[in-house]
Amino acid sequence: MIRPVRKAVFPVAGLGTRFLPATKALPKEMLTIVDKPLIQYAVEEALEAGIEEFVFVTGRGKTTMEDHFDHAFELEQVLGERGKDGALRQVASATLKPGQISFTRQQKPLGLGHAIWCARNFVAGEPFAVFLADDLILGKPGVLKQMVDAYNVVGGNVVGVEDVPREMTNRYGILDVVEDDGRLARARGLVEKPDPAEAPSTLSIIGRYILQPEVFEHLERHEKGAGGEIQLTDAIARTIGDIPFYGYRFSGDRFDCGSRRGFIEANIAFAMQIDGLRDQVCDVLKKYSRTPRKIYE
Ligand code: G1P
Repeated sequence: MIRPVRKAVFPVAGLGTRFLPATKALPKEMLTIVDKPLIQYAVEEALEAGIEEFVFVTGRGKTTMEDHFDHAFELEQVLGERGKDGALRQVASATLKPGQISFTRQQKPLGLGHAIWCARNFVAGEPFAVFLADDLILGKPGVLKQMVDAYNVVGGNVVGVEDVPREMTNRYGILDVVEDDGRLARARGLVEKPDPAEAPSTLSIIGRYILQPEVFEHLERHEKGAGGEIQLTDAIARTIGDIPFYGYRFSGDRFDCGSRRGFIEANIAFAMQIDGLRDQVCDVLKKYSRTPRKIYE
């Protein structure tokens, strides 16, 4: 029996060192793409896929995320009094229902696998999704919805995957593929950040996972892997004999918002989706592509 995916875990304890000084006092997940924080895109993608319960694994300095998904009474009251209905709707769009969201902390940065393990009591024996909010994906339907549809047919563990240039395999979890129909790739193994020469393929995991709770049995051991960290990839790899494992090639454009290029590109791509903003962005791009030098030396 394939059990439904109702819960999602958002590991958001990372320090965001690639985006300093912006992330000195601001969680990297609160960086905005156009006018919405990265984490809200992830939550909306989860809602679209039918997720009912949200678990955030946070760390010190991340409390603005709790506030973001709560009511903002003063703001809502002022906007109401001023008749700003559009703005009120925007504020409400970031509010989750009471009891729908929980927060737990990863007290030490021991790796992604450890962060997920910190959510074990909330997941409580059900299949669950994992979102890495840095990986922003423009897709219709959203990528988790696409993956849930595939999961509801095949079951097991399903991760979002994308082909990357071979020289980039050392940045990702890479699949050792046995069968591939172009959409779903079944794998017999997984390696975290292999050197290009040793990578079993170039099919890489992006930040979307649907996992069976058995993965916690392996995370429980706290074994260190690549980079001396407790890796989610290693724990998933250990379940493969017992639980079928698939990579799902999603439709959509992925932006690595943990890098400056990806972040800027995502802002442009998402702005282009908004009527009334598209033409203005095109004008701005034209203006600056005519002067590809530094304006201020
Ligand atoms: C993590 C995972 C890796 C995955 C990547 C996707 O790595 O460990 O397997 O491919 O996310 O973004 P990180 O980017 O945290 O180093």
